[in-house]
Amino acid sequence: MAALEREDAFRKIFRLYRRRNTSELSGVIHFRPGNSAVKCAELRIGALSDEDARRAGLQPLEQWKGYHLEGYPGFLFISNPFLPSWQHRWVRQCLKFYPRKPNVCNLDLHMSPDQTGDLWSSSHNQLRNKSGQKHQEKSLLEKLRWVTLGFHYNWSTKKYYKQNYTPFPADLAELSRCVGLACGFSNFKAEAGILNYYHMDSSLGIHVDEAELDHHSPLLSFSFGQSSIFLLGGRSREAEPTAMMMHSGDIMVMSGASRLLYHAVPRILRHPEGGLLPPDLSHPPTDKDPGAHPLTEPCSPQDWEVCSAYLQNSRINMTIRQVLQEGACFPEDTGADTDQITAQASYHQEGSETEQEAKRVRTASDTPGEK
Ligand code: SIN
Repeated sequence: MAALEREDAFRKIFRLYRRRNTSELSGVIHFRPGNSAVKCAELRIGALSDEDARRAGLQPLEQWKGYHLEGYPGFLFISNPFLPSWQHRWVRQCLKFYPRKPNVCNLDLHMSPDQTGDLWSSSHNQLRNKSGQKHQEKSLLEKLRWVTLGFHYNWSTKKYYKQNYTPFPADLAELSRCVGLACGFSNFKAEAGILNYYHMDSSLGIHVDEAELDHHSPLLSFSFGQSSIFLLGGRSREAEPTAMMMHSGDIMVMSGASRLLYHAVPRILRHPEGGLLPPDLSHPPTDKDPGAHPLTEPCSPQDWEVCSAYLQNSRINMTIRQVLQEGACFPEDTGADTDQITAQASYHQEGSETEQEAKRVRTASDTPGEK
């Protein structure tokens, strides 16, 4: 428990960004051409065909903008490589389809499968008709905090189990394969996913993603909706983290020496261009050129109405992982306790810092906010 209350270098910076006025974000790195703090990265041109890229809603690889960050070998940032109207589709997947059974979500902790089976259907009218009033009842989709896919991460034991597996969504596996190829990971296999759903007061606690048995494969992270500050630290929490901005459509790859670094999201911010939604999402999808055999159907204007109402105050992040090295199996002893998920056991944090500190003391045995 002592570790939770320790004020290490990472926590100090986390608290700083959690509190800091948005006009004082000068130390935050922006990945964009011409910024001398970041270096352009070579992608594996030729490894990903234009046709495969288009089917997944990605621009041809030679148009992607990838960046390295000095001091973080293995870390790669790809600035929104999605084709127009495709972020819409992935957002719709995250809200309409991926929360469905047999996938697991935080609401399953205290609701029956009948109630959580189709969050979209039980929420879409409420979201469409939102008046913006503060004390309006929240829809179930707005109460969604996380969804797990494939091998379902167990928040209590911090492990994956062979038996706790449901088929990983084929479209997302293919999107991940394409991004893996582009970054030089030709055998990347999406086996587990954690989708995090943030609102403007959410944050994600300091953690390392180490439950996967294969640390040679990268961790892929996709972000949609409002922006965030991402903190990337070192192998110890005594290393000061670097703060960077993530916007809708951006992809991050943590691999090699950066695969097991501490990281966190202290803050969700409105995207910087003004308006309720980021520019790429501010219009309904047009889908003039759907391409041959797209991985997902176009997002209909009706579905987009629901997604856009949701995203006005939200951010969605998907982290995709390979759990097992090719040809490897789970060790024998990981078969027990597959269904143990306890209500507080996730790394989400909500509300003001004072509320969070109070919550941390109250629920210390469940380690909220720490993975
Ligand atoms: C993010 O939301 O950008 C990070 C998610 C994670 O670390 O799991």
